[in-house]
Formats: sequence, structure tokens, C-alpha cells
Amino acid sequence: MYCENTKKQFELLRNKKDAVILGIESSCDETAAAVVRGGKVVLSNIIASQIEIHRRFGGVVPEVASRNHTLALPAVIDEALKTANITARELDAVAVTYGAGLIGALLVGVSAAKAYAYAINKPLIAVNHIEAHVAANYISEPSLTPPFAALVASGGHTLLLDISDYNEYKMLGGTLDDALGEAFDKVARTVGLPYPGGPNVEKMAKEGNANIAFFKHAKGVRGDLSLSYSGLKTAVVNYVNTLKQKGEEIPTADICASFTKEAIELLSKTATEAVKRSGRNRLVLAGGVASNGDLRCALAKEGEKNGFSVLYPPPVLCTDNAAMVASRAFFMARDGKGLAGLDLNAKSHIPFGGGK
Ligand code: KG4
Ligand code: ZN
Repeated sequence: MYCENTKKQFELLRNKKDAVILGIESSCDETAAAVVRGGKVVLSNIIASQIEIHRRFGGVVPEVASRNHTLALPAVIDEALKTANITARELDAVAVTYGAGLIGALLVGVSAAKAYAYAINKPLIAVNHIEAHVAANYISEPSLTPPFAALVASGGHTLLLDISDYNEYKMLGGTLDDALGEAFDKVARTVGLPYPGGPNVEKMAKEGNANIAFFKHAKGVRGDLSLSYSGLKTAVVNYVNTLKQKGEEIPTADICASFTKEAIELLSKTATEAVKRSGRNRLVLAGGVASNGDLRCALAKEGEKNGFSVLYPPPVLCTDNAAMVASRAFFMARDGKGLAGLDLNAKSHIPFGGGK
């Protein structure tokens, strides 16, 4: 459902190398808007984090997230344009994350983007959140071009992908149950560290020794490159509960270090196998967990040993942001993909495999 004029403007984006796109992101607890030129040059990247609001609940409360997106988004969009020194009329398109994520939270961004695109009479581009995370690497490393392999590790996903072209994604493997970020968050809660768990577990792990074996036998890389984090997560919870029942002290730092080592060792070995199978010589990291120093270090070592390079964005482009959404939209539009109408709806789950 889009008018002929919008379609024509969208067609023009195929050849517009310096297209300026407003990105909007609201899939979880960051309200974000950004303006990006040519898919790589960030003119502004505004993020209003709700971390403080959700901290007292120990995690994201979906309804609270939606309400706060509604409150924050208009000012965040205004600030993105102001910082970029761009007027709404100078935008070539509006891009929005339509999934996957928390449905109520996504709906706020999708509704705002629809209204904005309609008001300025510009195309609306629907972006898959996971694909946007990968696109953050085009911003941080402008010389990057496909093909490459990718590891997306966030609060909702742990995926290994082969990216043969800008709009060609193939799944190589990933978690069968919990995402790695989810496991980090659960471990943090279990040992009493504040939300968000990942960065706090990382900090605490530096002070501990990885001297606890949560499993009797080390786990090996699975033939189908699948991963599982629910077992490890439960093992940590049981370990802590047993100590509590005995009235013993909880060795928080050692638990964080041991969990991190176990989680990351298997992931880096599985990712290495994925790179080998894909035949690519580069692995790009994406998603919130990609800001973890231990993960980066483990993969860099594997890369050195196995002859592939490892790239990752700075932490601000690893966790949720809208610059990655605008960048992803640019590369979709260049191939004539992603044009959405005012009937665009949010989706909590999107089966993986390419653009819209
Ligand atoms: O990509 P993201 O901002 O949101 C989702 O799409 O889920 O990722 C958030 C996740 C959270 O689970 C958070 O604990 C984790 O990324 N995370 C980390 C680190 N920074 C964020 N996990 C481990 N180490 C970190 N330094
Ligand atoms: Zn994300």
C-alpha cells in the first residue's frame, strides 16, 4: 500500500550513492534515531537508553518499554535531525526496525516511522533487526564488502551466518534455545549483579578465576553448528542454589569468569568451524554481546590460527542503535528491496533468511 510517487522516489534510491536515511529503532529498551548518508557516514546517532528505568525490575518489562518509547521517540527523532543538521525534507527515506523484538515496543517505532514517512512524503523501508546489527560493520569498517561470515550475538539471538552479498544471508548455525546475551543476563541476576547483565558479568569476570567446571565433560562443536545455552544457564543457577542451601559464600567473580570461559570457548570454536565451512576469510561480529572483550579476544586468536580476520564495531554500534537500521536500509534500497506501505506491521519473530 504505497502511492506511485513513493515508488518512484524509492526507485531513485537505487542509484543515489549519498542517499540520506533516517533510521528508527525501538525493538527492546533503547529508543533510537539516526541519520546516515550513503549507508556508511553517520551524521547523528541518538540513543535514549531505558536501562535505569528497567534496572529495578532486573530486566526489560515489555509494557514499560513501550510506554517509554512513546514518551522519548519524538524528541529523539528531532535531536537526530538537529545533530545531523538536516531538515526532514532533505531526507531521502525513513527506515524502521519492524522485527524481531518486543511487539509493543516495535509498534511504537513502526507507527512513528509510518507517520513520519507519510508526512514528508518519502519512502518507508522495513528493516530486519538482525540484518541491521550486521550492517553496523559497514559503518565501522567502510571498506568492508561481502562476502563474509557473521556472528550475531545479542539478547535475543545467537546466529552464525554466511553473507554472500548485501542482501543474501544464509544461516549456518545458532542457538537452539537461549541467546547468549539472555544467558549473560540470567547469570548476572543469579549472582545478584544489576541489569544489564552482560557488561557487569564481563567486569566481574576480570576479578575471578575460571576454576569452576559447570559440566563434567567439555562440550564439542556439533555437526550442525547448533549451540545451546539453557543447560549452562541452568547449571550456574543450580550451582548457586546449592551453595546458598549450604549457607556457603557465593564466589561471584569465579562464577562469572567460569561461565564466560565455558560460553565463549564453545561459541568461538563453533564460529571458527562455520567460517571454515563457508570458505570466507572474514568473520564480522554484531549484537550486544559482540562488545564483550573476552569474546573478541577468543575469536581474534582463532582467526590468527585459522587464517581469517575478525572485525567488530565499537560497543555503541554493537548494542541497539538506529544508525545500523539506516545503513541496512541503504543497502536494501540499492537493490530495490524493503519498500513498505502504511500497512506495515511489527513482527515479534521473523524467520531468518534475507530482507523483507
Ligand atoms: O543487541 P542488543 O543491544 O539487544 C538485543 O537485540 O538483544 O544486546 C543486548 C544484550 C544483553 O543481553 C546484554 O547483556 C548483552 O547484549 N551485552 C553483553 C555485553 N554488552 C551487552 N554481553 C556480554 N558482554 C558484554 N560486554
Ligand atoms: Zn539488538
